[in-house]
Amino acid sequence: MKESSIQQLAASLKREHCHQVVILTDSNVDSLYPDYFSSLESLGIEVLDKIVVAAGEESKNLNQVEEICARLLELGCDKSVCLLNFGGGMVSDLGGLSAAVFKRGVRYVNCPTTLISMVDAAIGGKTGVNLLHTKNVIGLICQPFMVMEPDADLLNTLPYQDLLSGFGEMIKYALIGVPTLFDELCSLESLGASSIKKSWIEVCAEFKRSVVSVDPNDTAYRHILNFGHTVGHAIEGARAIIGQPVPHGVAVAEGMLYEALLSRVFGSLSEVSLRRIQRLVLQHFEVKPMSDDMVDLVLELMERDKKNRDGDINFTMLKDIGVAQPDCCLDVQTCRRFFELAFREGFKS
Ligand SMILES: NC(=O)c1ccc[n+]([C@@H]2O[C@H](COP(=O)([O-])OP(=O)(O)OC[C@H]3O[C@@H](n4cnc5c(N)ncnc54)[C@H](O)[C@@H]3O)[C@@H](O)[C@H]2O)c1
Repeated sequence: MKESSIQQLAASLKREHCHQVVILTDSNVDSLYPDYFSSLESLGIEVLDKIVVAAGEESKNLNQVEEICARLLELGCDKSVCLLNFGGGMVSDLGGLSAAVFKRGVRYVNCPTTLISMVDAAIGGKTGVNLLHTKNVIGLICQPFMVMEPDADLLNTLPYQDLLSGFGEMIKYALIGVPTLFDELCSLESLGASSIKKSWIEVCAEFKRSVVSVDPNDTAYRHILNFGHTVGHAIEGARAIIGQPVPHGVAVAEGMLYEALLSRVFGSLSEVSLRRIQRLVLQHFEVKPMSDDMVDLVLELMERDKKNRDGDINFTMLKDIGVAQPDCCLDVQTCRRFFELAFREGFKS
């Protein structure tokens, strides 16, 4: 499977008269899979270099973009080069942005290695880096030349927390548009690489592709993908600030619990559906009450969220399991009153 998708990659590149790639990866992926693309050369694609960045969200910054572009320049790359992003969402967000700005844009390909990147991050062309602990503040939408077919064997080496992170995003897909997947995920007793069905990865990736094809520039409908992310991004940023980072999808899972509660209180989500969502999420994720300092920090970051408009905080709410309502706005005071209470209470599993 892996070799056939590398062959497909080589054939697609050659069709576009692209014969040179630079691989971008992170230190963990590189040490586990140093020769993953070794067959490319024999297929007529020259690998000019492999750029290895330190693993972890801290590498998603503007200095790193500059370093990648500087390396591409030193290598003498012109507009025909292709950047091959081999890694999780950190690598595809960082590499995508670097490719999009290098010489005003060169091609890039995403080869996802984490569950979250297979179902979400590698697809849809959102690229970006973080600034001042605020997620993806600098970025742009630029579609990849190709997203390679997920190689599920790569998940065997993924740490449990990162598998869990991807599982959080899978629950999101079930909640915003694939209710049959929700039922299947509820039947999962314990999470492991072998318990993730290939069909689940495919259905999430397909759903994301369908949403992106309707609204590639993220003007309205695509906002449904933000369910759980207004609170989730703020929790992710706050935990990074206090030196207790959590993986993206774990923060999103926590965010989904709060945003589902919000959908019950301010929207039309039924009590029965809310309980089912809470049961599934809390079966896999722990959501403890927050300290007062943490509540303040998370609220401050939510108020800085890039989706906010005219001072209001923007959420995607759920009407039901599988039905999302994008662009629901709440004023800051109402949000503060609701979330101060909810964050201090947390959820009991
Ligand atoms: N652009 C988008 O649409 C989009 C969507 C969702 C998330 N994201 C971004 O993606 C990032 C989170 O994604 P992620 O969890 O993939 O992050 P990541 O790339 O940091 O990977 C998580 C960890 O897994 C390691 N890893 C990767 N593949 C591995 C493998 N096969 N075996 C063992 N270890 C492996 C990495 O080295 C890292 O330590 C965040 O920055 C988030 O903002 C972007």
